[in-house]
Formats: sequence, structure tokens, C-alpha cells
Amino acid sequence: MKPSQMVEEEHRQIGRALRLIKIIAERMEVGGEIDPKMIDDLLFFLTEFADICHLGKEEQALFPAVEKKGDEFSRDFVKALLADHRVGREHIAAMVQANKAYDRGEFSAVESLTQAMLDYVSLATRHISAENGTFLDMLDGLFADDEAEELVKRCEKIEEELPAGRIQLLEILNRVNAQLKEA
Ligand SMILES: [Fe+2]
Ligand SMILES: [Fe+2]
Repeated sequence: MKPSQMVEEEHRQIGRALRLIKIIAERMEVGGEIDPKMIDDLLFFLTEFADICHLGKEEQALFPAVEKKGDEFSRDFVKALLADHRVGREHIAAMVQANKAYDRGEFSAVESLTQAMLDYVSLATRHISAENGTFLDMLDGLFADDEAEELVKRCEKIEEELPAGRIQLLEILNRVNAQLKEA
């Protein structure tokens, strides 16, 4: 597997979570009731899979490698991607806070929760599409086969250190998807 294939596959899974979050936010916006536990489950997925696992691989292995081998354009591009990661984490923190208030029955939390969800979805969608284009081309173009292999190994090591396994995390998406269909 090439680093670009690994990244693209994880983007596909994160994209599934983004679609679920959007459905939830849109239902809540028109007064639909959503179980806060379902949002908690998705936030757990975003924290463990999207943030610690996926962004962890990018920030600890892939971005530094691109910065080291790439030109000024690549370094500026990575800088912009890192800025997106920071904003994305702020949106996740806002969702966590707002969902706690929503869980306590605070009606006013609905607006901040849906806003944070839609802000996150729109940022992450744009970010993923930027990475799927330019960043994956960089990953494919900059590294020789042995370097690419080494990068994938470093990424796998990051994933192995996660407390929750990938199968367990992806199962959350299947479960939420099924719950949304029932509701
Ligand atoms: Fe990223
Ligand atoms: Fe990414």
C-alpha cells in the first residue's frame, strides 16, 4: 500500500462520518430530536479516528516528510493544512461542549451544536478535497518506494498505539447509520 492510498481510504471513512453529522445537524435544525449519545459516539469516532489516528499520521509522519523533501510550495501547503487541523479541533471541542449542554436538556445548545457540526463538516470537506488533490500528488511524487514503505510503517505504528482499534471505530459509523435510518 502506498501512503497516498492509506490517506485516501481514511478520508473515505471520515467522509462517511461527515455525512452522518450533516444529516444529524439538518434534522436538529428543523426541530428533530436526536439522542445525544449518538452524537457522543460520532465525537468519539472523530477524536480517536479522525484526530488521533488520521491527523496523527499526517502531523507526525507525512507532513514532516513532505516538508523535508518538498519545495517551498509544499511547505506552505502543509502549513495551510496544519492551520485547518487547528480550526477543526476547535470545532470538535465546541461540539463536545454543546453536546454536553444538549444532553442536560438545555434547549439553547441546539443552535451552537448544529452550527459547530455544520462548520466542522464544511471545513473537513474542503480540507479533505485539498488533500486528495495536491497533497496526495506530493506523497506520490516525492518519495522513492523504500521511503514510501517506511512512511506507511511509521503510520501503522501510530495506529497500533490507539486504544480503540479501527474495526471498533468503524463499527460506530455503521451503528449510527442504522440508528438514523430507524429514527
Ligand atoms: Fe489533514
Ligand atoms: Fe487527511
